[in-house]
Amino acid sequence: MTITSAMNELDRRLLMDRSVSGRSAVTMPSSDVPEQPLPQESLLRDDLPLPEVSQLEVIRYFSLLSQLNFSIDTNFYPLGSCTMKYNPKINDAMASLPGFGSIHPNQPSEQVQGAVQLMYKLQESLGDLTGLPGVSLAPLAGAQGEYAGLLIARAFHASKGDSGRTVALIPDSAHGTNPASAAMAGLDVVTVPSDAQGNVDVNALQELADERTAVFMLTLPSTLGLFEPSILEITQIIHDAGGLVYADGANLNALLGMVKLGDLGFDICHSNLHKTFSTPHGGGGPGSGPVMVTEELSKFLPEPVAEKSGDIFTLAKPTNSVGKINGFHGSFGILVRAYTYIRAMGRDGLKAVAENAIINANYIQSQLKDRYDLAADRFCMHETVLSAARQKRRDVKGLDIAKRLLDHGIHAPTMYFPLIVEEALMVEPTETESKETLDRFIEVMRQIDDEVSEDPEAVRTAPHTLPVTRLDEATAARKPYLRWQG
Ligand SMILES: Cc1ncc(COP(=O)(O)O)c(C=O)c1O
Repeated sequence: MTITSAMNELDRRLLMDRSVSGRSAVTMPSSDVPEQPLPQESLLRDDLPLPEVSQLEVIRYFSLLSQLNFSIDTNFYPLGSCTMKYNPKINDAMASLPGFGSIHPNQPSEQVQGAVQLMYKLQESLGDLTGLPGVSLAPLAGAQGEYAGLLIARAFHASKGDSGRTVALIPDSAHGTNPASAAMAGLDVVTVPSDAQGNVDVNALQELADERTAVFMLTLPSTLGLFEPSILEITQIIHDAGGLVYADGANLNALLGMVKLGDLGFDICHSNLHKTFSTPHGGGGPGSGPVMVTEELSKFLPEPVAEKSGDIFTLAKPTNSVGKINGFHGSFGILVRAYTYIRAMGRDGLKAVAENAIINANYIQSQLKDRYDLAADRFCMHETVLSAARQKRRDVKGLDIAKRLLDHGIHAPTMYFPLIVEEALMVEPTETESKETLDRFIEVMRQIDDEVSEDPEAVRTAPHTLPVTRLDEATAARKPYLRWQG
């Protein structure tokens, strides 16, 4: 069922408004324990406004409500920078196996050998895919992976007695979490400008890299969806200055099986398993951002790290570990999903993921570039950054176009990011979408561009068919209405 038809059929009354006195969704079993006196009167309330509804009413209400959400399982979701791809259901089935789903993080390793073995094998796979063999699965999000990686960089320099390295060099096109993580790790952020093509300005980098440089952080592919052509030169410049090079590999979708970050000269990276490695992403669900490092840096990894001795798997603390960055071993359910995905796809399958992600993004780019400006008119990686600058001259903004897409059952792309692109619309189709879906998206985007000329008001006031139409964005953000109040 599409969102629109679900919505049309939806009885929009809130659960409270369906309440009929005396109606109930459950029949309580008769008590088989002796009656106990109630707590003191002042602790009891009989004025709680709880809905009195039948079980069927509750099921229908929540089922209809759930269908109002855009999700990758129901709609095309071309959200740039966030890899909202289809996540095969076998991953969930594996994560639900009792031997994985019902264990407790405090159980000793001897009792959960299968789980620790899975962690060990996932470390091996991620080390192999990135070319950075030291792996800790502990970080609970991409940003926490960054933070862990930057603590490692600091610990490395401290171990050499090099206390003057306090600067993190970060390009202006970096993902927003990069400077935030660097600041949290106690580093001073210095911005590296981009050149006219959207690449790191290598001359500026050369000027900035010096004896204060602790680390250079590079999002790869860049937030413009581009591969840095001067990558080898960049890693060399930083190494010559005595710094380390960090890859933000949150979106490895474009690189899987094609190139290893370690081979490019990176010393540290993280990757978001809740994107490329197939755990549903978005909506604030659990995340996992393992950190990968060179052999030399592996002694600084956060604990725990799964190790193997003979046939026994253990969870260990590396000798110079930066310590624990959260309570337990990482988001274990996500680790199971990622391992299942890697094994199910195999080496060739993962390479095909990257190839198709890149082909799909370039297909969209090539079919829309006569109507929408491009942030950079060259081959892109897994995502293309369009600009609605041309439409803005006709008085319609990127935001309006994104809202109009919702009327066509397509989730909005990422808007106004990266900040360096005017009216940015960042589209990542992913490898899992069919040519038919891509063609439909292209057709809708072209249709909206026609509409911008012929009936701009229809675009400016979209969406028209959703249960909630155009919101006052500022009030929605500042005064969110989060719960029903009697
Ligand atoms: C390039 C990049 N780096 C880092 C992150 C941060 O990841 P998380 O949201 O899991 O902290 C993201 C998330 O969207 C990202 O796209």
